Amino acid sequence: MPSATVITGLRVETLVPLEINLSGKLALVTAASRGIGFGVARVLARAGADLVINARDPEALRRAREAIREETGRHVEVAPGDLTRREDLERIAAVAREVGGPHIFFFSTGGPRPGRFLDLGMEDWDYAYRLLLYPAVYLTRELLPAMIERRWGRIIYLASLAIKEPMPNLALSNVVRIGIAGLVRTLAREVGSYGVTVNGILPGIIHTSRVEELARDIQAREGVSYEEALSRLSSGIPAGRLGRPEEVGYLVAFLASDYASYINGAMIPVDGGRQVSVF
Ligand SMILES: NC(=O)c1ccc[n+]([C@@H]2O[C@H](COP(=O)([O-])OP(=O)(O)OC[C@H]3O[C@@H](n4cnc5c(N)ncnc54)[C@H](OP(=O)(O)O)[C@@H]3O)[C@@H](O)[C@H]2O)c1
Repeated sequence: MPSATVITGLRVETLVPLEINLSGKLALVTAASRGIGFGVARVLARAGADLVINARDPEALRRAREAIREETGRHVEVAPGDLTRREDLERIAAVAREVGGPHIFFFSTGGPRPGRFLDLGMEDWDYAYRLLLYPAVYLTRELLPAMIERRWGRIIYLASLAIKEPMPNLALSNVVRIGIAGLVRTLAREVGSYGVTVNGILPGIIHTSRVEELARDIQAREGVSYEEALSRLSSGIPAGRLGRPEEVGYLVAFLASDYASYINGAMIPVDGGRQVSVF
């Protein structure tokens, strides 16, 4: 808790040292064997958090655990499972509870099928709900009561810049992820008074295997080289490059810290300046 001091006649709060320290905190990070989830998990562990990480492929998940343990020395538990399946979500939540109940929940997930509206069938829409929204709601319902009881919690959902500026060929992401923004604002209002904050992150284009998949999709549909497809994806980014997963991780670590105790209900872009609209 900050204490008060007097500087040149003004009574002000003493500044705390500016270093993110999440030791003593447990974080559940979903979709974390590679890509953004892995980058976020690494940064949270570097800041001192212990982790429960999830993805479908148990081998890849174990490799991610070993890499993070070796790099940071933190305790990392694995909770393999498919976020679209209720029975797997039950198991993931059970693992998280067994190791003490997460103080921090970072939600990422798999990417939905690329496509324009008329390329997609109703089964794609059903699956996109199951992938992008359903697990966020399910796991939040499981984890939130303990955070409220503890009077401290951080929930951070990964969405996409596509919910502000719809991206070509990503109809499912453009539409279904908007539900995450509604979830953020709804929960922020409902649980803010219990010391729990709920925020969202809107990545622009972060260099991961998902982006490589999107580049291959452009290559196949438009008959351009893979390099040309990748450079199309990075055009219009003032930073002049794609983002790195860890650059999302640094924001997550900040939002998860006490420095961000008054940031609640925000949807924050991490996009190298790509967003063109004012709001
Ligand atoms: N990269 C970007 O520029 C960008 C921008 C905006 C939004 N996004 C979104 O951010 C999310 C993460 O993207 P990314 O770039 O990190 O992708 P990525 O590099 O392909 O990594 C995806 C991760 O999710 C896991 N995963 C996929 N489907 C899953 C499922 N059904 N249940 C559990 N885990 C699952 C994968 O492991 P397994 O395959 O072993 O399950 C992997 O660990 C996606 O929803 C993507 O659409 C990405």
